Amino acid sequence: MLVNAAEMLKNAEAGKYALGAFNTNNLEWTLAILQAAEEAKSPLIMQCTAGAAKWMGSFKVCADMVKAAVEALNITVPVALHLDHGSYEDCFKAIDAGFTSIMYDGSHEETFQINLDRTKELVELAHSKGLSIEAEVGGIGGVEDGVASSGELADPNECKQIADLGVDFLACGIGNIHGVYPADWAGLSFDRLAEIKAQTGDLPLVLHGGTGIPVDQIQKAISLGVSKINVNTDLQLAFAAATRKYIEEGKDQQGKGFDPRKVLKPGRDAIVARTKELMEEFGSVGKAE
Ligand code: 13P
Repeated sequence: MLVNAAEMLKNAEAGKYALGAFNTNNLEWTLAILQAAEEAKSPLIMQCTAGAAKWMGSFKVCADMVKAAVEALNITVPVALHLDHGSYEDCFKAIDAGFTSIMYDGSHEETFQINLDRTKELVELAHSKGLSIEAEVGGIGGVEDGVASSGELADPNECKQIADLGVDFLACGIGNIHGVYPADWAGLSFDRLAEIKAQTGDLPLVLHGGTGIPVDQIQKAISLGVSKINVNTDLQLAFAAATRKYIEEGKDQQGKGFDPRKVLKPGRDAIVARTKELMEEFGSVGKAE
């Protein structure tokens, strides 16, 4: 059975560790991430973007697959299925499909007031259905035109206004960026993180763009109140490297090496190993025992 992510993140915030929120793309990703969580005895947030859900067929295909996989693998650790970076419309679709947690990313709305109004409406809807909800203040940057040495910094007052709506966890820019970090990246702004934490109390904070942040910065961010770390690109790189090795070694051309189960296995195993390493870094290993 899937649970929402509120309690597991409250526990993480109180216990000064973080949960990885790992993006799934397909069946292999789903099974690998579940296997890692079970072996590490870590609570798990599995998340999916609207784009990845479309790739799988629909939000419902994704939700049904994750639920069935949890049962099939006899998973005992708590698992939440979370919508990553949902638009206002995506949130309704993911709720209908059976997701147990949503993120409404209102940081791209035309005005902060629209973000505030829609977050308020979706908090009420999510909570009325027993779901948890994440909101976002201050967009999380990415590289544009090849230049982005630092990501956006969220306004602590805006964070407080969104926090006061009763969201379960909050994404706020502290210089983080999605994807691989540029060589001249300025690093996380711990001053801004501390200012936001001072305004938002014990609300679990979310660090997006978890790929490639040096471990010491990750651990400092956790000590200052980050309880959920989003990881997508990292597992894609792990999968691609292992698959590339298999093909470059010509293994697909030996015997029945072209069987998709054989072609996909090294990548799937690499996701298991890397997810467990990240859970170790974030401090969530053993927290579901
Ligand atoms: P990365 O792809 O940089 O790991 O970011 C993932 C993320 O923040 C998803 O919301």
